[in-house]
Amino acid sequence: MKKGALIICSCLLTLLFASYTNDQYKPSSLKDAFKNKFYIGVALNLRQIWAKDTAGLAIVKKHFNSIVAENCMKSMNLQPKEGQFQFRDADQFVAFGEQNNMYIIGHTLIWHSQTPRWFFVDEKGNDVSREVLIQRMKSHITTVVSRYKGRVKGWDVVNEAILDDGSYRKSKFYTIIGEDFIRLAFEFAHAADPDAELYYNDFSMSVEGKRNGVVKMVTQLKNQGVKVTGVGMQGHLGLDYPTLGDFEKSIQAFSATGVKVMITELDITVLPNPGQNRGAEVNLNYDYKKAMNPYADGLPKSVEMKLQQRYVDFFRLFLKHQEKISRVTLWGVTDEDSWRNNWPVFGRTDYPLLFDRQFKAKPMVEMIVGISKK
Ligand code: XIL
Repeated sequence: MKKGALIICSCLLTLLFASYTNDQYKPSSLKDAFKNKFYIGVALNLRQIWAKDTAGLAIVKKHFNSIVAENCMKSMNLQPKEGQFQFRDADQFVAFGEQNNMYIIGHTLIWHSQTPRWFFVDEKGNDVSREVLIQRMKSHITTVVSRYKGRVKGWDVVNEAILDDGSYRKSKFYTIIGEDFIRLAFEFAHAADPDAELYYNDFSMSVEGKRNGVVKMVTQLKNQGVKVTGVGMQGHLGLDYPTLGDFEKSIQAFSATGVKVMITELDITVLPNPGQNRGAEVNLNYDYKKAMNPYADGLPKSVEMKLQQRYVDFFRLFLKHQEKISRVTLWGVTDEDSWRNNWPVFGRTDYPLLFDRQFKAKPMVEMIVGISKK
């Protein structure tokens, strides 16, 4: 009798579980919600990498299945002096990703910013020759990519090389080497880890001129037989720019070149914009003015609702194009972590991410999880 009851009970439980998983299953985390669609990633700072920010780490482990280092893999930090590499932080970052079974992204190999000064000059302070700069690029890329071969799955090989009008940024890499520096960087990275995914990454990617410039460059590289796996759209957005339509056009245009599309550095500022700045030039800075920091004591409900709508609209767009998009990465865990508090004006209080300063998921997280089922 007892045995019979047990069997009936377990059958009922199985039935209950089956119907729950079929009809009412609600993913409880972002990574579950997007599991068969795209990776959902996050940028880690040093406090997270070194496990000092335990509350932040709990969020990372629950919600994200891909990580990228916010700063510690930039050349300034990896090779502050020529030939003297410092891998402590980056090693720890990669170990954390492996321990937690995460898709690890390396950011970034070649970028005009956060590159040590020595990279471009000789001992007298004059620009080095084309040959020397190519050799330095090769040595940096080869050393870094080989170290994490098979472990870092994708690299932002070149960051921010195209301007809004589609022309090349006149960076030191460009002026000393010429546009070839991009092809060379991809080739060096490919040689060091033939299996790694290789990306071109940039901001303001929904601006028409930049969109066309990037499409042209990627097409050219592919025609030359260079491996380019994906294009990263940074996604440092505002409440009223860019339009969803422009962003969508870029997803479509990049995808049409035959590469994967990634949203690599998503955050949405709610703060007023000093000047006409719509991009993410890290070297651009404006003086602090109190009027430019309106929400230091809290975010009004009306603005919170706008932000929520904006995030939901963008995630709807990502879902619509899930076949083209392989990853969506948030540029930080909580609002407190965000670089937006200090850029382009130092010392403001912004609310650009999915988790608040108390480490709580904002209501929009539940909404984003909800729409993933539709
Ligand atoms: C930012 C970091 O978030 C800041 O901590 C740092 O001071 C400057 O760089 N585009 C990029 C990122 O590719 O590496 C930048 O990250 C933001 C803009």
